[in-house]
Amino acid sequence: MDRIVIVGGAPLKGEIPISGAKNSALKLMAAALLTSEPLTLDSMPNLADTRFMAQLLMTLGVGVAWPDGSHTARLHAADVTSTIAPYDLVRKMRATFNVLGPLLARVGHATVSLPGGCAIGARPVDLHLKAFEAMGADIVIEGGYVKAAALRGLKGATIVFPFVSVGATEHAMLAATLARGETVLENAAREPEIADLANCLNAMGARIDGAGTSTIRIQGVETLGGARYPVVADRIEAGTYAIAAAAAGGEVQLVGARAEHLGALVQALRAAGVTVESRDGGLFVARDPGQPLKPVDIDTQPYPGFPTDLQAQFMALMTRAPGASIFRENIFENRFMHAPELRRLGADITVRGSEAVVRGAPRLVGAPVMATDLRASVSLVIAALMAEGETTINRVYHLDRGFERLEPKLAACGADVKRVSDRSPEPREGSVEGEAA
Ligand code: UD1
Repeated sequence: MDRIVIVGGAPLKGEIPISGAKNSALKLMAAALLTSEPLTLDSMPNLADTRFMAQLLMTLGVGVAWPDGSHTARLHAADVTSTIAPYDLVRKMRATFNVLGPLLARVGHATVSLPGGCAIGARPVDLHLKAFEAMGADIVIEGGYVKAAALRGLKGATIVFPFVSVGATEHAMLAATLARGETVLENAAREPEIADLANCLNAMGARIDGAGTSTIRIQGVETLGGARYPVVADRIEAGTYAIAAAAAGGEVQLVGARAEHLGALVQALRAAGVTVESRDGGLFVARDPGQPLKPVDIDTQPYPGFPTDLQAQFMALMTRAPGASIFRENIFENRFMHAPELRRLGADITVRGSEAVVRGAPRLVGAPVMATDLRASVSLVIAALMAEGETTINRVYHLDRGFERLEPKLAACGADVKRVSDRSPEPREGSVEGEAA
């Protein structure tokens, strides 16, 4: 099992290229199922999760040409040869559930394992299923599987989400592209990944309006065609490195980062005393490591609020800000698993339900810690960059799910970081325990 070993204290200086967004790429890949023509995706992040999605698509009959290390993937669903996504493939990664809607829309039926809960919360899929039912699908849950059928095709519907869900908005949008008539999604999620998916689907011939606002209108079309489309830059990866630069101090240019997708984080960083500027088509982040940080309270909210996927990273930063900062996690019910691990480095964090109080500690000291889920693990990397001495982060397969070339990217800016492999097998199979985000 791989470990990452970091010796803290070095400021970061240099450039970090931002990869394509994992959360967008996964849904764009699912879109390939909607057409018999090839969909070519550029800026594809090479990650355990995206490679895994490619494997699932292949079991459904999709031809995938994605050479190792390449950032361009060609997905061709000339014929869908299976409409079954088995438990073993869906339980490992929640986003694989998103093949259900495209299969239903294109073939008229699908059997997809329920994704189940995960470390950060229960994460049901009831909103996804209600949306398909509103579009005329018959849904039965049996033996842990969702069996969905719309043998005469899906029909447009007005769907009012009771609360904002990124996954349900994307999933309903994917299916509605091929439904008869108009679908209206009310109280839709507004994340940049939603607009990215809509842009890609429109490039394939879909008719989607309003993505990025809370009302999305989709006029169903008979068929979709092929397209070539670049995945949007990963705002969570960019935000993570922005926080890392703030934590370690120094000056970092995040190449390709989209400042306009990071408004809430930029505000929070500035309030903490960090310089953040939109510069040269990317984001420039600087902090004098000699200057203390200021405490900032964080409330996670759907976009454009502060993203839950950056909460753990910002908490790591606040462990060194003199004074108290309060974190309220409003999206997931169990998303403070990083707190006990941060405490091992000397952080002062008290968790009560969905609220955590962080009191800035004068110093952090390196220690062995354990990654528990994707975003929590990278918060440990950030804390380790600030800690005195050596931190070993175990179970880094969580990081590999969502961060492309993390160690080389940080090392190129002067961080003392290395990966240590030993011969015990990767417990990738069991990674559902920390499946998150
Ligand atoms: C996506 C992102 C994840 C991010 C999250 C919120 C991917 C692969 N993952 O997850 O990184 O943290 O958005 O920005 O894109 N819910 C229900 N019923 C449903 C669907 C959701 O109760 O049918 C609940 C969830 O349990 C959660 C909340 O709604 O409490 C928001 O979840 P949602 O926005 O759907 O997150 P995901 O799409 O799963």
